[in-house]
Amino acid sequence: MQLTQKNLPFPHDFLWGTSSAAHQVEGNTENSDWWHWAIQGHVPLPGVGCDHYRLYEKDFLLMQKMGHNAHRFSIEWSRIVPQEGVINRKEIEHYKAVLQSLRKKKIQSFVTLHHMTSPQWFSDRGGFANKANNHFFLDFVDLCAREFGNLVDFWITINEPITYAAKSFLLENGPPGGKNIIRAFQVFFNLASAHNDSYYRIKKILPRAVVGSSHVLTEYVSGGGISGLFLPSVFHFINNSLYLLCTKKTHDFVGINCYYRVHVSFYNLYKGFKDKDYEGVMRDERHDLGMFLDSKSIYMLLLYAWRVMKKPLYVTEHGISDPADTKRIGHMNDAVRSMQKARDEGVDIRGYLHWSFLDNYEWSSGFESKFGLVAVDQKTKKRLPKKSAVHFTSIIQRNGRITE
Ligand code: BGC
Repeated sequence: MQLTQKNLPFPHDFLWGTSSAAHQVEGNTENSDWWHWAIQGHVPLPGVGCDHYRLYEKDFLLMQKMGHNAHRFSIEWSRIVPQEGVINRKEIEHYKAVLQSLRKKKIQSFVTLHHMTSPQWFSDRGGFANKANNHFFLDFVDLCAREFGNLVDFWITINEPITYAAKSFLLENGPPGGKNIIRAFQVFFNLASAHNDSYYRIKKILPRAVVGSSHVLTEYVSGGGISGLFLPSVFHFINNSLYLLCTKKTHDFVGINCYYRVHVSFYNLYKGFKDKDYEGVMRDERHDLGMFLDSKSIYMLLLYAWRVMKKPLYVTEHGISDPADTKRIGHMNDAVRSMQKARDEGVDIRGYLHWSFLDNYEWSSGFESKFGLVAVDQKTKKRLPKKSAVHFTSIIQRNGRITE
């Protein structure tokens, strides 16, 4: 759907770039629980993956060439603290070099401290299912604030707490593979609390730090039947509202990840669980990984986040798995239009980070999904920019004006 808009340009300091996560691009995150989960045969092993751990300098040069002025990535906790009580200085130096490289290229950094993966030793202790374990994460947060403080532009404490709790503790879609709704809620609340504490920990060390987290917002619509009349509101409350309510005071900005519209009804839930294809059944128009949002939906979700939080918003993830690269351009245009319309109405949106720069490791589906602006030849690791990457650059050059 086309939105009417005043077509005001975005401000000059608007941030444009991409998002990623360590386990999905670096390769060989061998001490993480997701690595072990793969070794146990639940999901494909990422192996050396995109080899971004070694090739980050080249990747950042390419981003710079494409006009990006921001990049979000995660610091892999299991690299820095591979065993309980052990700190790997070499890895700290590695991430310092990564941050310095971005800074030299005038690419602002959004640093995520937890993006799905935890060290295996932390998982073995029960991970975030046990609130008494939160202090391990907070020690890591302290360490990062002390070591990387002056190099980080934006801190993102935790990525999508609700997705992580649901995937790993209810849907058996990630380590440790639980199927317990009470446990999933415990994990969710422990993560919300970990975010709140991390916010104050970072501020204590770096009073001027800019701290937020990335929250996923999904549009819930009726999947039919009587339950379709009320379940969308229940899902909206649990998945969209609850986290914002629990963390209202601890965001200098809110990172919004938006991907899907989901059709909810008891029948769809039953079918999703039965076929172990929760995502396929509940999302309309299946493409590779389900239906994406149109501009009207993204606009509504941004408006919703603004109404609840009244804090600057950054879209910290938005994208589509599109192997043929035929839908991504329209999808990106939709996001830009929605941001523009929301900005016209007073919503303070300050940046857009597309998911993702590279075709990377997509959790359960391995390298089959293609979310990248840039393809990666899995043998040579050569980077091959797609048409959509060129289009994104032209959006940036026109400062958000869409001409088609
Ligand atoms: C996650 C990413 C993931 C993307 C696409 C987001 O919810 O943060 O790690 O790759 O969705 O599925």
